[in-house]
Amino acid sequence: MQLGFWGGTGTEGSGLAMRFAQAGARALIGSRSLERAQAAAQRCNQILGAALVEGAENPALLERCEVVFLTLPADKAVAAVSAANNLLRPGLILVDVTAPVAFRDGRVEYLQPDAGSNSEAIAARLPRGVELAAAFKTVPAHLLSNLTSPLECDVFVCGDSKAAKEKVIALAGLIPSLRVLDAGGLRTAQILERMTVLAIELNRRYKSKEARFRIVGVHP
Ligand SMILES: NC(=O)c1ccc[n+]([C@@H]2O[C@H](COP(=O)([O-])OP(=O)(O)OC[C@H]3O[C@@H](n4cnc5c(N)ncnc54)[C@H](OP(=O)(O)O)[C@@H]3O)[C@@H](O)[C@H]2O)c1
Repeated sequence: MQLGFWGGTGTEGSGLAMRFAQAGARALIGSRSLERAQAAAQRCNQILGAALVEGAENPALLERCEVVFLTLPADKAVAAVSAANNLLRPGLILVDVTAPVAFRDGRVEYLQPDAGSNSEAIAARLPRGVELAAAFKTVPAHLLSNLTSPLECDVFVCGDSKAAKEKVIALAGLIPSLRVLDAGGLRTAQILERMTVLAIELNRRYKSKEARFRIVGVHP
């Protein structure tokens, strides 16, 4: 299966593409520019030491992939999904990774969307037959991109489509050193997006780039 990373030229998307490629999946990085997509794929392949990642323009990515990770800036993702609506085919699974945060006066803030969360705002704009799950919102880009560091954290997957959620849980489980937890319906994205804010605040206070989460007391 080919996994797409819409806006995968950024650190989060490239990091995920490399982690999945390393785990045996075919990864396709998408961009508004073919040159940027190919350059990002080349950078990933240099790090991986093998030609495992390809680049494509975002519309080609939507045509070629059955599962597409949304790794655009959070404040651009809703508009991008709306604009690409005619390219979103029934059966496509979108995985929303976005977390709407902003930095003001050196502090991080959650920009709560009217829909409750960015994931719910995106879900409301999807054509019938396209399913959405949210995942990886709390996994730091810096760490994903550093392939020599084990992730050693939990990844929370939530969504209202059982089939999409199960697919994403199975995919996330391919990445070693991640524990995958089913975090319930899509409304949980409201919590996960805020958890990202907490991780950023902890990074700031403790001068780190790697704050992430591990839940104790549950044994999936
Ligand atoms: N950074 C983290 O640690 C972290 C952790 C968890 C979740 N996230 C979430 O992951 C997502 C990606 O983060 P990132 O830091 O990798 O993002 P980013 O570098 O800011 O953006 C990713 C890519 O999105 C594309 N893009 C930018 N503006 C766009 C627009 N107006 N329309 C369409 N595409 C646009 C750009 O690609 P092209 O110019 O090549 O098209 C850019 O390289 C964000 O939503 C973030 O909230 C990040």
